[in-house]
Amino acid sequence: MELGSRRTHTTMPSKLRSSRLLLISLLLLFVYSTILLLRRPTPPNPVSPPPCDLFSGRWVLHPETPKPLYDETCPFHRNAWNCLRNKRENMDTINSWRWAPDSCGLSRIDPTRFLETMRDRNVGFVGDSLNENFVVSLLCVLRAADPSAVKWKKKKAWRGGYFPKFNVTVAYHRSVLLAKYKSQPRPSGEEADGDGGVKGTYYRVDVDVPADEWINVTSFYDVLVFNSGHWWGYDKFPKETPLVFYRKGKPIHPPLDIMQGFEVVLQHMVSYIQRQVPAKTLKFWRLQSPRHFYGGDWNQNGSCLLDKPLAQDQEQWS
Ligand SMILES: *[C@@H]1O[C@H](CO)[C@@H](O)[C@H](O)[C@H]1NC(C)=O
Ligand SMILES: *[C@@H]1O[C@H](CO)[C@@H](O)[C@H](O)[C@H]1NC(C)=O
Ligand SMILES: *[C@@H]1O[C@H](CO)[C@@H](O)[C@H](O)[C@H]1NC(C)=O
Repeated sequence: MELGSRRTHTTMPSKLRSSRLLLISLLLLFVYSTILLLRRPTPPNPVSPPPCDLFSGRWVLHPETPKPLYDETCPFHRNAWNCLRNKRENMDTINSWRWAPDSCGLSRIDPTRFLETMRDRNVGFVGDSLNENFVVSLLCVLRAADPSAVKWKKKKAWRGGYFPKFNVTVAYHRSVLLAKYKSQPRPSGEEADGDGGVKGTYYRVDVDVPADEWINVTSFYDVLVFNSGHWWGYDKFPKETPLVFYRKGKPIHPPLDIMQGFEVVLQHMVSYIQRQVPAKTLKFWRLQSPRHFYGGDWNQNGSCLLDKPLAQDQEQWS
């Protein structure tokens, strides 16, 4: 089973900030692949070939690709994100791109085989909208093998599905920063440090506390896929309403900027996951994908008109 392999880093971003992100992501990937390798039984044949690196590859256009496994009637999308129902242009072309690993073939997911393998087990996703998109497409694909699938939103899940034929739950817990955060009025009279002068609201981020949405639900899942990335920017948290980082309940001094905060949060969350999530749970860290807004940012009337992967020099990572 290869969850999380569809979108991976294939290129080096240019900006320092992005490079750091890449490094962190690669580090986490390494950590989790190590866990994975440890779980694998020793191969019986000592001269078996090394496993294929599914992350090294490229997108290729396959006009003869069979039709998608689901259509616009799949009930798991947010309405606004249902490209099929909203008649997004060029869907045929978009659906014809396939990920081709450099050194092996990658067959199409077989929903029946997937659900059979996962019988009586649960798959959880925790993170931002990249994971939401991932979970929605997985739910819609799996529904092809169990049309009796129903929506499932228990245990603080933001969305999810239950597949009665196989007793499998697949769900998504929305937690864009992974750590707990909430907006707070700044106490009157308090001066912000650094280039501060910040008034009004700020967002307190407890770097060492997982968000309520997933802190107590990890034992329910047999497979967990984590991600975070696109919310760590000033477009989401402008300097007027900044993130202020706390550890052990106290503000961190000197204050961290948003990328330093990202790094510290990832360290704490990874350490929490290693400590608290049972060893039998298969854990993945999904990597970042480039931003793809065209003609403006997400909140500036930008849209996603592209129907092919971004060229390397078009990629923006944050
Ligand atoms: C469904 O799976 C859960 C584990 O996820 C298990 O505890 C439960 O007994 C299963 N139910 C049935 C009817 O097999
Ligand atoms: C998580 O579980 C702990 C221990 O039972 C409890 O103290 C805490 O309130 C729970 N947190 C949430 C957000 O449910
Ligand atoms: C977005 O488009 C609307 C309607 O055309 C316009 O009123 C608004 O000013 C635009 N906003 C930006 C940030 O360009």
